[in-house]
Amino acid sequence: MTRVASGASVLVTGGAGYIGAHTAQALSARGYRPVVFDNLSSGFREATRWGELVEGDIRDPAALRRAMQTHGVEAVIHFAGLIEVGRSVASPDLFWEVNVAGTTSLLTAMREHGVARLVFSSSAAVYGQAGIGPLETIPEAARKAPSSPYGDTKLACEWMISAQCRAYGLSAVALRYFNAAGADPSGIIGEAHEPETHLIPLAIAAGLGDGKPLTIFGDDFDTPDGTCLRDYIHVNDLAAAHIAALEVDLAACAFEAVNIGTGQGRSVREVVQAVARALGRPVPHATGPRRAGDPTSLVADPTRARELLGWEPACSSLDEIVRDALRWEGQPAYGAGSRSARKI
Ligand code: UFG
Repeated sequence: MTRVASGASVLVTGGAGYIGAHTAQALSARGYRPVVFDNLSSGFREATRWGELVEGDIRDPAALRRAMQTHGVEAVIHFAGLIEVGRSVASPDLFWEVNVAGTTSLLTAMREHGVARLVFSSSAAVYGQAGIGPLETIPEAARKAPSSPYGDTKLACEWMISAQCRAYGLSAVALRYFNAAGADPSGIIGEAHEPETHLIPLAIAAGLGDGKPLTIFGDDFDTPDGTCLRDYIHVNDLAAAHIAALEVDLAACAFEAVNIGTGQGRSVREVVQAVARALGRPVPHATGPRRAGDPTSLVADPTRARELLGWEPACSSLDEIVRDALRWEGQPAYGAGSRSARKI
């Protein structure tokens, strides 16, 4: 059995990004020493408040080896990668290079440095149109039919990691996130993507009058109110899942893929209503056509996370997620003092 003890130094690739920063905070609170490894291409220096920041690219194994050596790294949580689904359709080569070749480079550096535990950021995007009915939850064994090169690269990474676990005695957990949302209640770290495409920040911006009215992408899906169903999971619950995956007893060579979601599907209209409730005013919106590649429903069967990791969501009610997302959106900006200048 291998496990990582509290106090260990943990390399967090992509730790300046949204989920990475929240996980670095959770690691630090739990007594680990997070070392953030990030090239700051989409993450933010201001988000790296927990542990040292090493600027580097995951495609550079020498830089990874140096970071592992300097900091005596004992485990890795691997977030670094490209995430925009639309961009992956336009530039699949880039996604394979950063996500897949970057993960190969990381695995090589881990092997050379003798790091035997990995937690990998995977995604519900590996399922795509899983062939599951709109009101059914998706178990890990469901058919994998990614609907974008982004999803393809996450699935390819899972296969590669699994094969390297068997070949080299590594143990790894791939966490298949459903819809990460919300922010730390402190309001000091949160979600910021450029451009922002995610539903909750866009609905908040529309409600605050900071953005365009929200477009609901299709209301003719086979769901109770005609809009898509998603499983929204608070980013701090996601961070806790990473700690659980780091600490779980696993045999050498073991690879586990685990859904991280609540098991509850929420429609786009329900999210819009929750944002309006939190703001105390309506969210201007209109219905538009479907967005290409959007599955009707993506809702986790979270049984495996409970059984293997002992993990359950603690703060992922829709109202709690929206409340924390709103607190983050309402904070003064880093540095420049404007919301649009704040960049985590
Ligand atoms: N939506 C709208 N209007 C918007 C934005 C989103 O109606 O302006 C809808 C989408 O159609 C979808 C739901 O809100 O039904 C959620 O959309 P998001 O863009 O917030 O999230 P996705 O479900 O598209 O994306 C998530 C992760 C991705 C991952 C993808 C896998 O954020 O990283 O699931 O399908 F790749």
